[in-house]
Amino acid sequence: MGNVSASAPGKCILFGEHAVVYGQPAVAVAVEQRIHVSIQSESDSGDEWKLDGMTFDPLRHPHVAALRQRLWQVEQGAPSLSIRVSGNIPPASGLGSSAALSVAACAALRTGRGRWFNQQPEPSQPSTWAEGYSHQFNTDIAYDASRSISAERKGEAGLHMHYLTDSSVVDTDECALLGHAVEAMAQGGRASPMDASTCAHGGIVLLSDTIESNADYLYTRSLKMEDGQRTWHLHSITPPQGSDDVYLVIGNTGIHAPTSEQVAKVAAALKKNPNRMKEIETIGLIARRGIQSLLEGDFDSVGRAMSENQLMLKGLGVSCPELENLIRAASPSSLGAKLTGAGGGGCMIALTRHPKQTSEAIELAGGRTLISKFGNHGLRVDSSRGLPLWHCGDIE
Ligand code: MEV
Repeated sequence: MGNVSASAPGKCILFGEHAVVYGQPAVAVAVEQRIHVSIQSESDSGDEWKLDGMTFDPLRHPHVAALRQRLWQVEQGAPSLSIRVSGNIPPASGLGSSAALSVAACAALRTGRGRWFNQQPEPSQPSTWAEGYSHQFNTDIAYDASRSISAERKGEAGLHMHYLTDSSVVDTDECALLGHAVEAMAQGGRASPMDASTCAHGGIVLLSDTIESNADYLYTRSLKMEDGQRTWHLHSITPPQGSDDVYLVIGNTGIHAPTSEQVAKVAAALKKNPNRMKEIETIGLIARRGIQSLLEGDFDSVGRAMSENQLMLKGLGVSCPELENLIRAASPSSLGAKLTGAGGGGCMIALTRHPKQTSEAIELAGGRTLISKFGNHGLRVDSSRGLPLWHCGDIE
């Protein structure tokens, strides 16, 4: 029996949460804290999975259930799995624990399953995938569990020519794409790709309504929502000079606040009063200014933009007294502070040159703190043994 372990970081958002769901720019940073997912194949085939030693309940773990439908189809003979999840990202706190779990699980399942590739006619040409999900192909399939098997693509001659089974079959784009698809499902059809892409790629991720010339373009994602199609252009940003001297102090209120409820709350407020879209646009303008300051390495201005962003989030109704209390405590020793993630509880972040002082102030105000630097690693496969755990199709 083989096994695979993969891990992915959590994230915090410098600017633009909620507004990014409506296509406004935003920036998120991978944090040091990670989720580890390990999968081990059981000898029988079937859907009797175990999660942390207990019978797996798809209703309690919709993200994992949705990945199983897309990558580990029992009707194609996939064996049952025992999954273990560990890590130091507090759940339902705005730090991307569910996105980190999804992208790490996706990498583990893909490694466990291997991948068919199409042989190119010219040996010098790189081979292309014969199965799986990517922005280069039809991304819509990833969002539709009923069409998972059609994620298969034939090669030029209609053949799958060769099969690989090591961690090189993992593609960060695929993990981010499936991560987004399952987040969208869990958030009632409304989710930006920000969390999944940041947890998958690590570092600093910028989402914009245009392709930015001063950041490294990754790909474009689209999602049909109830009120229209949204498109995001994703980029990664190299940590600017000076980022070694600043820290992110995360303060946890300890209040669990599901993202889906906060996202639905904002959607309802906009439906009731469409004029409030101006607030969303203002968050976009603040984010754009913050992004420019970040690219210039002007962290004092980044901090100011974060604090302005917080005022707008408070106006939008997604802050709460406990978050405001921690933000107030952090402010004197930091460059800027705001809630991070969906709000309504969960965490705030402070950008600071004095992490110890800021952290102590937040703790004195009743928050639990974590400290993180900029530019942390994204998704990775940490170990594997006895591959493949399963393969879809015959290996010659
Ligand atoms: C949650 O971490 C961020 C939100 O903007 C939702 C999303 O982007 O899907 C609130």
